[in-house]
Order: sequence, then structure tokens, then C-alpha cells
Amino acid sequence: MIRRIHHVGIVVKRLTEAYAFYRDVLGLPLVREAQLADQGVRAALLAAGDSEIELLEPLGPSTPVGRFLARRGEGLHHLCFETPDVGASLVVLKDRGVELLDTAPRPGLAGQIGFLHPRACSGVLVELATPPGPTIEEPSALRLKRLVIGAEDVRATAGIFQSLFGFPEVAMNGGPRTMLAVGRGTLLVVPAHEVGGTAGMVALSCVAEDFSALTASLRKAGTPRLDGTGEVTVEPAGSHGVHLHISRYTFP
Ligand code: CO
Repeated sequence: MIRRIHHVGIVVKRLTEAYAFYRDVLGLPLVREAQLADQGVRAALLAAGDSEIELLEPLGPSTPVGRFLARRGEGLHHLCFETPDVGASLVVLKDRGVELLDTAPRPGLAGQIGFLHPRACSGVLVELATPPGPTIEEPSALRLKRLVIGAEDVRATAGIFQSLFGFPEVAMNGGPRTMLAVGRGTLLVVPAHEVGGTAGMVALSCVAEDFSALTASLRKAGTPRLDGTGEVTVEPAGSHGVHLHISRYTFP
């Protein structure tokens, strides 16, 4: 029932400051910005290849996102999958006894949306969305390829995502990690001890359409980062709390 990773939600202090990095330095085009009073946020979607990045600025400190910001700081907040009929998907999940925050769809920035309870997906806050019309992929300098999830028990966490959403496992050479395909993107579940003990969303991987232009843009902006061969890791201080890996090539 899931077509793709629709977006990854990132909490930021101020949209304008986050635009300076995500739109201006990384080159992700702004698709839409709106105030969502019921979610207590001003939110923006930026195109990132087959997926989007959603930036969330809290409208006040007592909103859920405001409390998240006070507790955890800026960074990865939720993961959204596109489904052709979010209402039907929520009914199926509810019938299976899955804990939901929304039992019926409501309007969101991505179309009709509904959230699962984080307890339903090993501490990852998952949103489902049905966009209003067909997806038009906007050209963007980066393509979102992979979300890394830390887990105390990799098999159990990957099993939950497989069982709820039917994501097939991508063959890997054994080892303690599990990769699941979601449309053209992937979820990589890794042991929490490999990622500083963090359970939940820990990092994003993207592919640059023009790697040398991208690294030039990061250099010009003075973005804190680690430069590797054919890859660069932006430090969370430079990317509003997100561990962001950008590579030259599409990796397997
Ligand atoms: Co969202």
C-alpha cells in the first residue's frame, strides 16, 4: 500500500534560517509553505528527488513541536509514507490493533494525512499521506535515498516496518543491519550502539546530481562538514540537527 517515502520531517527553530541551508546551500526547491494551526506549526516542503523534506517551525513553545524542540533541539522528527488512500490505510491499521494518533484523515501540508503513535513503529513517528494530485517530480540538486534508523533490536524493528507496510528486504551481505526498500528509497535499520546509542531516526543519505557543484556550495557557505572521497557528511551544527550524508553516486 506504500508507494514511496513522501517526506522526512525536520524540526527547526526558524524556517527562514533553515531555508538558508536547505534551499539556498543544498539547492532544494521550495514546493509549498503554510501555517497548520491544528499541528501548531508553520511548515514547508522542499523537493529532494523522489521524496521531499518537510521543515517544521513551532508556532509556540507549548505546541507538540515546540516541546520537541525544547527537549531534543533541532533535528529529525518524523517519517511520512505515501499511500493511495490514507483513510483506508488507517482503517486497516486500526483493525490490526496498531496504535494510532489519528483514526481518520485530516488535511496536512502533504495532502490528507494521519499519524501513527510512535510506539507503533519502535519509537519512530510515522505519518501517512495521500497527496491531492499526481506527483510531479521537481528537479532538485539532491535526491533523498535513505533514512537510517537506530534500533535496540534490528530484526524486531525491521520486522514491524515489514509487517505494517509490506516493505521488501534488500539483500545485504549478512551483518547486523537490515535494509528495506520503500519505492526508490530505503530504510536502513542499524544497531543503536553503532549510532551513539540512539534509537529512532538518526541520519539521512542523499545523492547529489552534481557533486562538485554541491561541495563548492557547502565550501562557499562555510558549512561544517567532513569531506571524504565522493562523499561529504554535513555536521548537525550545519544542517539544523540532522546527520546528513551526501554522496556522488547512487549506492546499492
Ligand atoms: Co509531515
